[in-house]
Amino acid sequence: MSSQTNADLIIFNIKQLLTVPHKPSGEEENDLLGLVEGAAIALSEGRIVFLGKEEEVRAQVNPSLIKLEIDAGGGVVTPCLMDCHTHLSGFPYGRADDFTARVYKDSDYANIARKGGGILTTVRETRACPEERLLSYGKRILNEFMRHGVGTIEGKSGYSLDASGELRQLKLLDQLDKSHPMSIFPTYLAHMVPPEKKEQRESYLTYIIHEILPQVLPFARGIDVFCDPIAFNREESLQILKAGTEKGLLASAHVDQTAPFQAVEALASSATSLSHLENISEEGIAQMKAQNTVGIVFPSCSFHLDLPFAPANRLLREGIDFALSTDWNPGSSPCSSLLFVAYLAAKKMKMPPAQIIRSLTLHPARALGLDQEIGHLGLGYKADLSIFQLDDWRDLITQCSNPPGVTVIKNGKTVWANDCLLK
Ligand code: NIG
Ligand code: FE
Repeated sequence: MSSQTNADLIIFNIKQLLTVPHKPSGEEENDLLGLVEGAAIALSEGRIVFLGKEEEVRAQVNPSLIKLEIDAGGGVVTPCLMDCHTHLSGFPYGRADDFTARVYKDSDYANIARKGGGILTTVRETRACPEERLLSYGKRILNEFMRHGVGTIEGKSGYSLDASGELRQLKLLDQLDKSHPMSIFPTYLAHMVPPEKKEQRESYLTYIIHEILPQVLPFARGIDVFCDPIAFNREESLQILKAGTEKGLLASAHVDQTAPFQAVEALASSATSLSHLENISEEGIAQMKAQNTVGIVFPSCSFHLDLPFAPANRLLREGIDFALSTDWNPGSSPCSSLLFVAYLAAKKMKMPPAQIIRSLTLHPARALGLDQEIGHLGLGYKADLSIFQLDDWRDLITQCSNPPGVTVIKNGKTVWANDCLLK
């Protein structure tokens, strides 16, 4: 017999396996998804060593070394869904006044922010909230993400605005990462100029670059800035991103959200990814294409704030990869269901179903620079995968947020099953 593959674990009885290839073999749905029907996956020490039709996997793998077999129950298997943009470390409530002002009094997000509400409300709440409570809120939100099949999220600071508070938020993300099976990619976010520094923008910028950044550096992997008429201008944003990338952080920015601001044009060549894009211009699209910048778009934020939806199909036609994300935060998107995001991407943006799946797996991995490890199921990749009790993968986008039975496997270990976190 030709040489067999050594594996310690097999996942079998997979009705539909979506491998989500980097370079699809064609434009058909099945090509975009890398669909294998009647599949199995063989793992060794938490990594994928073989996958394909179940009979091929059984024939290839040395049966004597298998320690465990997991029955996928005839379900759908995908790389763990991934959310590459959340504001996880903030206080999760406290924005009911904003909500009612928008819904019943015709106010809007930017006006509320200009009057000292919005983000600044959450800054006050986060600063005042004891560590223990933030930690227990964080764990609960992580469970909600996992219930919907998510295995990795990015989490931002940005609700403190001073060095000790931003550090505290990033340390909280570190604690959450260590105490929960969800993997967390921590990002320092320069979110706003605090009211007390309103007249001293330049000195606040210096403070960010020379005080906050060096202090948060040991706990951050990414840097982000809110480039918007209500936050930092283009030149300030560029300086912040430059200071972060010089220190080895992965750069991203919130751009063209509340109004057209030519922020994409200014930042596309200085960031790995750009988020929001609700008001992106034609020139901005051209710049993202030229610079190969990854987009991150938020249907639930557009829905919640009544903003335009980012031009998803236009980006697709231009060949610009983008991730779909919740943007979880208490103000603009209090939503921890990537499946609701998928549903809105279909309903409101008319994204093709297979592209939605790519935007929940491979593209967020690209946005975080993790796409050689996760976001795709292939040889050598981490066994980070989710099993959904569904007959048809398209039901991942039809359920208006209700999670089907979900099992989450991280590094080959089952961490979520039967609606419970497994310790
Ligand atoms: O991505 N707009 C900037 N930051 C967040 C919202 C934060 C908040 O409103 O608390 C966003 O939408
Ligand atoms: Fe955001």
